Amino acid sequence: MKNLAGRTGVVTGAASGIGRALVLRMVAEDMRVVAADVDEEGIEALAAESSDVAAVHCDVTDPSSCERLAEAAWERFGGVHVLCNNAGVIGRFAPVWDQDPDDWRWLFSVNVLGVANMLRAFVPRLLSEGEPAHIVNTASEAAFTARVFVGVYHASKHAVLAISETLAQELEEQGAPIRVSVLCPGGVNTRVLDAARNRPDELGPERATTGAAAALRARYDRQLPGAMAPEDVAAAVLDGVRQDRFYVFSHPEVANLAAVRAEAVANDTYPRVDPRLSAALRRDTGDGSH
Ligand SMILES: NC(=O)c1ccc[n+]([C@@H]2O[C@H](COP(=O)([O-])OP(=O)(O)OC[C@H]3O[C@@H](n4cnc5c(N)ncnc54)[C@H](O)[C@@H]3O)[C@@H](O)[C@H]2O)c1
Repeated sequence: MKNLAGRTGVVTGAASGIGRALVLRMVAEDMRVVAADVDEEGIEALAAESSDVAAVHCDVTDPSSCERLAEAAWERFGGVHVLCNNAGVIGRFAPVWDQDPDDWRWLFSVNVLGVANMLRAFVPRLLSEGEPAHIVNTASEAAFTARVFVGVYHASKHAVLAISETLAQELEEQGAPIRVSVLCPGGVNTRVLDAARNRPDELGPERATTGAAAALRARYDRQLPGAMAPEDVAAAVLDGVRQDRFYVFSHPEVANLAAVRAEAVANDTYPRVDPRLSAALRRDTGDGSH
């Protein structure tokens, strides 16, 4: 989609981080935007900044909430051209055998079913309009790797990549003028590590993280503030939409991760923690338990 001016965007997870930056970037490109999130204060603040932004509460885990979002988008702006399925959360850092069923359910209900619910609500409407459109699903570098203690998150982002690849093929088979991108960022300076703020009350508080998993979490906490700005990711996304690209790699090094995995498969390499990270986690925990 070469020309974005005058088009309408919908962004989930719009109140913070990458989603917020996408909304602001779309406005800067003369688009109108529906900012959707469970954080009403955050999206209302965005809408207060520009008359081109409409704030709509949406919980992507709830299919009817996604339906209401689609209805609101068409009612308010008469159509949708760029749909960014961006809402996502990361859970407690822990080995996979120590992840609670509720942690799996919450992460998958937002990161995976959230995308599925949005596609169910929006794609049939987009198909019946028959106008050019573009769908951007936010995966992550976690779609191409499997790192320790964040296995649930990585599994969910592998699913987002697979859904996106499937969707692109299905839409092309239909001859629909709808393109798909999958956004795969590396580290971005957002509130993602504070995702538990949106954990549903009925799940109870997240259990404490311990040992090497806690040491890894502390490393991420230290590193994220120095990571890429969300504004740079948003610019890469809109360039990807303009250029009809499927893979959007805001961080060039992420593009290489698929080749690293392909080589491991070809050489039948057993997965191992990077020895430098392993040593650092031992040092940080100080008890050699890792
Ligand atoms: N920050 C990173 O380093 C990074 C890297 C790769 C991918 N991502 C992905 O980017 C996306 C955006 O995350 P971010 O980093 O901007 O984090 P963020 O926490 O700053 O923003 C996430 C937004 O999603 C919203 N949200 C959470 N649950 C929701 C739900 N059920 N329904 C609707 N909205 C909900 C939150 O309220 C928040 O506004 C996520 O999918 C995340 O997995 C982030």
